[in-house]
Amino acid sequence: MVLYFSGTGNSRYVAKIIAEKTKDALISMNELIKTGSREELISPDRPFVFVCPTYAWRIPRVVEEFIRTATFTGNQKVYFLMTCGDDTANAIGYIKELCKFKHFELQGFAEIIMPENYITMYSAPEKAVAKEIIEKSTPFILKLAENIQEGSAFDTFTAKAKAKSGFINTAFYGLVVKAKGFHATDQCISCRKCVKLCPLNNIEMSGNKPAWNNHCTHCMACICGCPVAAIEYKNKTQGKTRYYLDTL
Ligand SMILES: Cc1cc2nc3c(=O)[nH]c(=O)nc-3n(C[C@H](O)[C@H](O)[C@H](O)COP(=O)(O)O)c2cc1C
Repeated sequence: MVLYFSGTGNSRYVAKIIAEKTKDALISMNELIKTGSREELISPDRPFVFVCPTYAWRIPRVVEEFIRTATFTGNQKVYFLMTCGDDTANAIGYIKELCKFKHFELQGFAEIIMPENYITMYSAPEKAVAKEIIEKSTPFILKLAENIQEGSAFDTFTAKAKAKSGFINTAFYGLVVKAKGFHATDQCISCRKCVKLCPLNNIEMSGNKPAWNNHCTHCMACICGCPVAAIEYKNKTQGKTRYYLDTL
């Protein structure tokens, strides 16, 4: 069973390739989180494969919370694949702790370089550059899929930068991850796509414009998925390229 969380499509792209190759079921953690589903996840013979983005050098908190509280039965073997713009630092250290907590047997971990999507802080690449990055990573994703299909163990990781995944991650969630600052401009066409895309149900329509509550994880789905680029974050995103990989 391949379970993915994705704000702007990179992790969904990876998960789809893995699931197509291994013929495993493809499950959206976005949907499970959005609907509050706590159904038992059952995979008798095949490993669980988790695919998600890197947020401040760890798996996103919402994903960690979901995995901690969900029930996985039938099989203990797991793989973790993290997409990132740059690196995952010591995310693996925390994944190992999570696996211990869940009594999972970690079979493999890999970081996969994909286009940067964190436009409220950095910039996303232009379309052509994003395409190149994805094309460069795709053979590696296919290789990982092959390994997962065969049940091979792998580890492409070398421990580095523990501070990034440690106290910087904690500071990041405390100081940076805030919904306050997202707003819709007059370009908004009231299509409600942002409401639909938000995995945390944090966006509601107020009149004919979206309004953000406080339960946000900065996944960039709303701001990057808006069809008319009508969402901005404070004064940090005006004129910036929106990145969204549509594989649905
Ligand atoms: C809140 C946030 C934090 C991020 N932190 C990191 C990071 O620590 N290291 C990194 O290499 N990329 C980081 N990124 C970039 C994403 O991990 C990367 O673009 C990922 O592939 C996006 O996946 P998605 O399209 O499935 O959401 C961050 C992005 C966001 C939105």
